[in-house]
Amino acid sequence: MNESKEPVLRVTDLRTYFPVRSKGLFPKTIGQVKAVDGVSFMVHPGQTLGLVGESGCGKSTTGRSVLRLVEPTSGHIEFDGVDVTNLSHKEMVPIRRKAAMIFQDPYNALNPRHTVGAIISAPFSVQGVTPPGGVRKAVKELMERVGLNPEHYNRYPAEFSGGQRQRIGIARAVALRPRFIVCDEPVSALDVSIQAQVINLLRDLQDEFGIAYLFVAHDLAVVRQISHQVAVMYLGHVMELATREDLYARPLHPYTHALLSAIPIPDPRAQKQREHIMLSGDLPSPAAPPSGCVFHTRCFQAQDICAVEKPEPTEFEPGHQVACHFPIEEFLGTKEIIGPDPGLTPRLGADGSPTGEYEGSNDLIRELGTDYGAGPNTPIDPGPAIWR
Ligand SMILES: Nc1ncnc2c1ncn2[C@@H]1O[C@H](COP(=O)(O)OP(=O)(O)OP(=O)(O)O)[C@@H](O)[C@H]1O
Ligand code: SF4
Ligand SMILES: [Mg+2]
Repeated sequence: MNESKEPVLRVTDLRTYFPVRSKGLFPKTIGQVKAVDGVSFMVHPGQTLGLVGESGCGKSTTGRSVLRLVEPTSGHIEFDGVDVTNLSHKEMVPIRRKAAMIFQDPYNALNPRHTVGAIISAPFSVQGVTPPGGVRKAVKELMERVGLNPEHYNRYPAEFSGGQRQRIGIARAVALRPRFIVCDEPVSALDVSIQAQVINLLRDLQDEFGIAYLFVAHDLAVVRQISHQVAVMYLGHVMELATREDLYARPLHPYTHALLSAIPIPDPRAQKQREHIMLSGDLPSPAAPPSGCVFHTRCFQAQDICAVEKPEPTEFEPGHQVACHFPIEEFLGTKEIIGPDPGLTPRLGADGSPTGEYEGSNDLIRELGTDYGAGPNTPIDPGPAIWR
């Protein structure tokens, strides 16, 4: 990761609470859903931060809050060095030119009564931008770029498949060449074989335009394909934040460890031998989160202190932040025992020699893309053997 660049997005102690109201004629606020409860992270230009966690843990609310599509309760959001936390609707207009969103459900995200041409050209008209050669030409180029037939300019969303509709959503999101896109479960509604194609497209666009993504998903295997860094969320909190290589090879948080142990792997023998950590109990309500560590009611290594004292996010190793009193000992201090992630390619210097740094490439996903659709539920990239 290129740490030297300033982050495009810096989020500090973000909280987004929703009021819980009583029923009846005169509803009163009787509590709060703490959807996002003090999260901090950065996203760097041209990089992807994957945000992963169970349903209801606050992923979408985080994504929407950073774009100010829902109003945060407190905290700070800095976009391109500008504090946008309290900007007015009008002041947000130029920011919105540089930030976009791709939604989970391509069926609902597109207006069925608008043609594809009208949908993709909307950002130009909303922002009053006329691209060189005109909007129609730009939209047709965009359609071609995302793998749609430009001759289908006047067709309606209903005439496209799920994958094609997501391409329409992606074309709309990249129309103004944004610096940052929140991708909220962009492939979750798609068939497995189509997922790889859409992830490929997102990665190609990232490489081409240097876009930063906040990639929200509940599927750790999918997040692994595209992320440079991964944040694991649980009940409104970021439990672990690390580079992709560190998180998947050496999870330090018990929750991450449990999530990873649930990913199926293709080798039946390895699958049989591998420890599968079952989480006890149900996900607590974010309206009444547990005391201390919010994960303590389900944690397999909780101790008395966990119910009392909230663990603060701590950098246990460089770039590897964990909110836990008792991180997984097996992996602590084991940094650098594996090589670089196979999904990364060495970054070359001007003279063509390796710089020692790595960057995301499409090689792995392209490779996987070929057998991705081999059968239903084909497991994808199981990751290094160390956590099997
Ligand atoms: N507008 C809202 N009003 C009240 N509560 C909300 C609102 N939006 C989200 N919530 C609640 O906030 C919590 C977090 O929701 P959020 O949609 O951010 O989770 P998520 O991680 O994206 O889940 P999923 O994986 O199902 O999409 C949930 O308990 C949800 O019910
Ligand atoms: S702080 Fe305690 S309960 Fe929370 S994850 Fe760590 S060990 Fe488990
Ligand atoms: Mg969501």
